[in-house]
Amino acid sequence: METILIVDDDQDLQLNLSSVLELEGYTVECVGTGMQALSKIKEMLPTVVLLDRNLPDISGMEVLQKVKEVAPQFDGAIIILTAYGDINSAIKAMKLGAYDYITKPFDNDGLLFTIDKALNNQRLAKEVKMLRKQLGDRIGTEKVMGKSDKIKDVVKRVSLIAPTNMSVIIQGASGTGKEVISKLIHQKSLRKDKPFIPIDCGAIPENLVESELFGYEKGAFTGANKDKKGKFELAEKGTLFLDEITNLPESAQAKFLRALEAREIVHIGGKKPIKVDVRIITASNINLVDAVSQGDFREDLYHRLNEFKIMLPLLKERTIDIPILAQIFLEDSNKELNKNISGFTNSSIKKMLEYSWPGNIRELRNVIKKAVLLEDKEKINHENLEFEGTVKNKKSSKDSVEEYTHKILELGFSLKDIMFELNNNIEKEIIISILKEVHYNKSKAAKILDIERKTLYSKISLFGIES
Ligand SMILES: Nc1ncnc2c1ncn2[C@@H]1O[C@H](COP(=O)(O)OP(=O)(O)OP(=O)(O)O)[C@@H](O)[C@H]1O
Ligand SMILES: [Mg+2]
Repeated sequence: METILIVDDDQDLQLNLSSVLELEGYTVECVGTGMQALSKIKEMLPTVVLLDRNLPDISGMEVLQKVKEVAPQFDGAIIILTAYGDINSAIKAMKLGAYDYITKPFDNDGLLFTIDKALNNQRLAKEVKMLRKQLGDRIGTEKVMGKSDKIKDVVKRVSLIAPTNMSVIIQGASGTGKEVISKLIHQKSLRKDKPFIPIDCGAIPENLVESELFGYEKGAFTGANKDKKGKFELAEKGTLFLDEITNLPESAQAKFLRALEAREIVHIGGKKPIKVDVRIITASNINLVDAVSQGDFREDLYHRLNEFKIMLPLLKERTIDIPILAQIFLEDSNKELNKNISGFTNSSIKKMLEYSWPGNIRELRNVIKKAVLLEDKEKINHENLEFEGTVKNKKSSKDSVEEYTHKILELGFSLKDIMFELNNNIEKEIIISILKEVHYNKSKAAKILDIERKTLYSKISLFGIES
């Protein structure tokens, strides 16, 4: 439902025009001064503004000049209305960003036609922007999968499932590429030219998850001052990617399941069911079967989502891909940091192959980028490969003090950085030993550690603890 703001001090015009536009199904608001217009635009971000050139306080042209400064997020179309149509001010208005310029008196059909054109223009601009991004993503993903059997198997499964409408669960530790794979499935699907809408269930406050997913009607709750589409509607005919699905609150799990089964949603505060056609991909760095058995996730929803599952390997389980990915990340970092490092010394390759990569591909990408920044020779040397997690051979405390002093003196680490790293390592070791104590029963472990189960889960994935 598009919203239109009429800015004109002529009450009769406001009245006539709003009734014409409401009949067309638009939501209409009216103000009579330039200052009111600026604050209304900032508040409601209308899709179209009909702006009279002559207003009692500041002119329509001044509003046009100030709108980007006052409401940077505004990307609607402004149509100037004026009684004195002269070509010079029309050109001036377009230069200031107006979409069109209409002389009064105008006929309603002509105005409706112009509004229609403006809306089409906006839709097209949004589609181009989305397609450009998808293109960028597509080019980015295709070239760097790897050649290990494990990843080849993943790519094969992606090609199998992508052209279907089946729901897919992608499971894998943090940084193994769940989001990358979900995008690849979308790009290889019949929905590739439609939206790919991600939603991180863990990043949204519990009480907002439902309105994010299903949208809401104006007045549904305080602050709902206009209708808002949810992610389901934004993903229409495309793909909805729910990341960290186990963080979906219980109440939302029930509603989500109903929406999947009925293929329709209802806005918060709304009554009318809205048909939806979206393909569902979910991701989790927690074993969903565990979450179901521990009562953290609805079994029926799990089975509804689990039409197909893709398990992503840890990076250390496909070491032959490490040099391939490292070379790609080296080229990306060279471009970004304007450097020209050609490759890696044998000792640095060896070091990378021996490392456990708790942060998987994301960590590899960050380590390479840092090494490119640090390196001043033709090839990356192993000293410049700095690993955060544990390497295979254990260090004595004397060694670690030496190493940390070196990091502070030579590499500009702060004491805070070192303590953060130390605490992380110790915290990880403690969690592992408690989990072992309780045979990896996470509820028991969380109780003993006196932390929230969700906190335990996120620490398990942050530290790459196998559980
Ligand atoms: N095959 C790949 N080629 C290139 N880069 C990749 C690949 N897979 C993952 N990456 C990069 O590694 C990083 C982590 O990938 P992604 O975000 O998909 O992981 P994730 O499994 O979703 O992680 P998390 O669980 O932490 O959300 C991203 O920056 C991504 O660009
Ligand atoms: Mg992710």
